[in-house]
Amino acid sequence: MSKLTETNPYQQFLRDLFHSDDDDLARLQTEAESEGIPNMSIGPEQGKFLQVLVQLTGAKKVLEIGVLGGYSGSWIARALPEGGRLIGLELEQKHADFARRQWERMGLADKIEVRVGPALESLPDVAEEAPFDMVFIDADKGNYPAYLEYALQYSRPGTVILGDNVEMWGSLVDPEKQDWDWVQGMRTFASVLSSHERLTSTVVPYPDGLAMAVVK
Ligand SMILES: C[S@@+](CC[C@H](N)C(=O)[O-])C[C@H]1O[C@@H](n2cnc3c(N)ncnc32)[C@H](O)[C@@H]1O
Repeated sequence: MSKLTETNPYQQFLRDLFHSDDDDLARLQTEAESEGIPNMSIGPEQGKFLQVLVQLTGAKKVLEIGVLGGYSGSWIARALPEGGRLIGLELEQKHADFARRQWERMGLADKIEVRVGPALESLPDVAEEAPFDMVFIDADKGNYPAYLEYALQYSRPGTVILGDNVEMWGSLVDPEKQDWDWVQGMRTFASVLSSHERLTSTVVPYPDGLAMAVVK
């Protein structure tokens, strides 16, 4: 069972009321499982949170690093206004193909473009699309500090930058895991995000630490 499906009664109450997947999102997750797409998407609470943020900020152009099967991208794209665009960067061709099929089925494909390859190789070419109104980082944790540098470079005052999995399901503060590349990457990311002179930042702790910052 995924950690995101282990809800206590209060969390389940909130999920049922505010955040439950509709049929399209539930089908995406079921098909992802049957097609061997890893079970590591955000949960519906975060999806809804991203949707609210897009609407709150009036974001029109969003960058996502780490697309997987397109679950978070679906929440984001649904909230974009007419003419809005999401550019997703994804390492695995299989994930990108699956996500594209889902977005076509959901009528979202014309709002989303996925670029396949290591994000650090795709990011320089994304410059021509900048500035972004929102950047969501949800890929390999060791590269989060580099992704944050790009996010800052591709931002304007008011851009919202998010990074998922700050807690790394406990690894961030596990004394046994401090020499892991991913833990060091996340520690650097958190340290820069929390103290950067251009950012006002915080972390939404549930379920695994969703860091967020707004560019001054
Ligand atoms: C946690 S999943 C993303 C989940 C997705 N945001 C969602 O909630 O639906 C991480 C994704 O990042 C991709 N990834 C890992 N390393 C990457 C890299 N160097 N460049 C681009 N994508 C990468 C993985 O293939 C995986 O699909």
